[in-house]
Amino acid sequence: MPQSSVRRDALGNNPRVRASGGILRKRGMSMRNRRVVLWIAVVSAFMFSAPRTFAQQKAPARPFDLVDWNGGKFIYGVDYYPEHWDESRWEKDATMMQAAGINFVRLAEFAWVKMEPSEGKFDFAWLDRALKVLNAHGIKAVLGTPTASPPAWLYARYPDIAAMDENGVRYGYGSRRNYCIHNPNFIAATRRIVTAMAEHYKNHPGVLGWQIDNELGDPDCYDAVSRAAFQKWCRAKYQTLEALNKAWGTIFWGHTYLAWAEIPLPWNTLGKAYNPSLALDFKRFQSESTHDYLKIQTTILRKIAPAKAITHNDMGMYDNVDYSVLNSSLDFVAWDNYPMFRKDYADYFGVSLAHDLMRGSKNNQNFMVMEQEGGLPGWNVFWGRQAAPGLYRVWAYQAVAHGADGVCYFRWRTSRYGTEQYWQGILDQDSYPNARYQIVSQTGKELGQLSELLHGSRVVAPVAMLVSPDSRWAFHIQPLVEKFNYDQQLQLYYSGFRRAGINVDVLFPQSDFSAYKILVAPSLFVVDKPLVAKLTEFVKNGGTLILSYRSGVKDEHNVVTDQTLPGPLAELAGVAIHDFDPGTNQEQEIVAIDGARFPAGVWFDILEPTTAQTLDTYGKGYYAGKAAVTQNSFGKGTVFYVGTEAAPDYYYTGIKFVAQQVGVDVGPRLPEGVEFAVREKAGKKILFLLNYTGKAQTVSLGQTYQNALTGASEPADVEIPALDLKVLTTP
Ligand code: GLA
Ligand code: GLA
Repeated sequence: MPQSSVRRDALGNNPRVRASGGILRKRGMSMRNRRVVLWIAVVSAFMFSAPRTFAQQKAPARPFDLVDWNGGKFIYGVDYYPEHWDESRWEKDATMMQAAGINFVRLAEFAWVKMEPSEGKFDFAWLDRALKVLNAHGIKAVLGTPTASPPAWLYARYPDIAAMDENGVRYGYGSRRNYCIHNPNFIAATRRIVTAMAEHYKNHPGVLGWQIDNELGDPDCYDAVSRAAFQKWCRAKYQTLEALNKAWGTIFWGHTYLAWAEIPLPWNTLGKAYNPSLALDFKRFQSESTHDYLKIQTTILRKIAPAKAITHNDMGMYDNVDYSVLNSSLDFVAWDNYPMFRKDYADYFGVSLAHDLMRGSKNNQNFMVMEQEGGLPGWNVFWGRQAAPGLYRVWAYQAVAHGADGVCYFRWRTSRYGTEQYWQGILDQDSYPNARYQIVSQTGKELGQLSELLHGSRVVAPVAMLVSPDSRWAFHIQPLVEKFNYDQQLQLYYSGFRRAGINVDVLFPQSDFSAYKILVAPSLFVVDKPLVAKLTEFVKNGGTLILSYRSGVKDEHNVVTDQTLPGPLAELAGVAIHDFDPGTNQEQEIVAIDGARFPAGVWFDILEPTTAQTLDTYGKGYYAGKAAVTQNSFGKGTVFYVGTEAAPDYYYTGIKFVAQQVGVDVGPRLPEGVEFAVREKAGKKILFLLNYTGKAQTVSLGQTYQNALTGASEPADVEIPALDLKVLTTP
């Protein structure tokens, strides 16, 4: 079913199905009230334009330098809504911001009605005055184009801009993101406001650039205009109906199309049954359309204001849009990071994966956080529990450790009005300089101090994880078994690396794999020939590839292969799969070569090695003793195939084993609740040790380092106080 517009939790689960577990990020972006967001979600592969091309994500000639862009300062900011407050408050706000080390704001992304109070009449005087106050305090701005929240007068005049749901009902006015990206009236209105903003601010020295819209990606729109656009897209991709019918296998249930106009959308069909091939193409179409909509705006802005930079606030693991394509049209990546609670502290490896995925969505170029959680989130109720103030500082450093050159908190002060009265900013409505303000001020001063050290440094990783947007979408369409979750597969491997203290890059099918020693491609469900060729080349040249269950099952049309599984990856893996078992209502375990046993579940591929060696076996059931995990030599490289999903410790143990085999340095031993990450600059390493727990933790580094904040030498056994961190360098 089309889940494109359903926000999911950290593990990609629909929260209605799974109310706990996972990093729930409830929010209310779209029309459907209080959707829960997934925020570990992902991004994407190639877009579907016909013909598909790998050229879409070219490495930029020179990475965009955010610190240079911000006048040599590490970006430290807040999302600020001057239009929500009396003008007499602005000067006090700017003074308090400056005192906290803030040098950046994002403004205006929901202020369309203030900037265009009636059709074609513009008023930027209020925003000019706000900028003047902020700029005088050394604070520069990114302006949001306000298209995520069109004014009431626009809907009154053009009611058909509102999005239509799967049941053919248009959403009513009163939320935000309520528009169809194909609607010509909405596109015309978009061009008008974006052009006016660009003209007005093109030479403004206090405006650094633009954020396009706000959290693009939903809703999917099912109206006649969208349907016609999809049919046109299909025609461009397949050229003939014969080709489309063949690719989609429409002979099944006799769904063969004789005219382009007959092609439906994956809307409200009986039993929510769709052709999975049509549904995957619809996902691609939606994602590409979102990119096209973004490009309408970037084209205007680049033409009129070429000196200003352009970004967008992505949503980490959110997957209704392929960020690896969308972000190719931006100067740099920015994203919105709301860590939520799982245990007594936030699920830090989930946040780390999202940071790395965001960095990976634009060739590992440094990025920024445009909305960093600045207080407890909530809409009609408060969500979760209050974070200890120290965590707001640790989260900022976590972003930095993963390649952020900027952290901007959402929001400066909690709103008195509207839907987000319970979504806390740094300050509460009374503007009292509370504990969050104090810790944010401390962090601002420190990051200012570290600005020079950090400038030009980046994350370097010896290993990478492949995210396949096609596979992710195909699993959403047909989730395999209830417990299966593609994002959880990603997270298990990713956390294994992080627990072993190893930096990880996230790659997409169009990325260059060659620089990495290990590539993990969990549940690579959908593969096409170019991807198989790239993986083969990688292994032939000496790379180590880790595949997991349900790989190589589908072709690029979301059609099951007629080869023995894992299909086109069988030769690489050196295994054949003639039987499998969904892990429903049963206990299973894998038995490692050394006899250690690990609980396993979700899915069991029963492996028959052809050229591979058996490493681990199943412990129970009719296939006890059969291979669960194998290792195959291929060319100069090695392929591991993990036929099941095991407990987290299995990944930590296994990844250390593989890393040692291929000569990847394993980091220090880490207590639970402590993260280790490294940035590098000209051979110099900057180490980050982040303690998310409420008690002091010690990590043995085997040598002394210099504390980058105090200048003091730290002992080889470094102590990190509760909810605190260390930034260390070699002298
Ligand atoms: C998103 C949006 C913000 C704000 C927060 C909280 O991140 O971009 O405008 O609404 O959620 O709901
Ligand atoms: C019923 C139908 C078949 C097939 C199976 C499985 O038995 O008659 O056509 O669809 O269910 O869904």
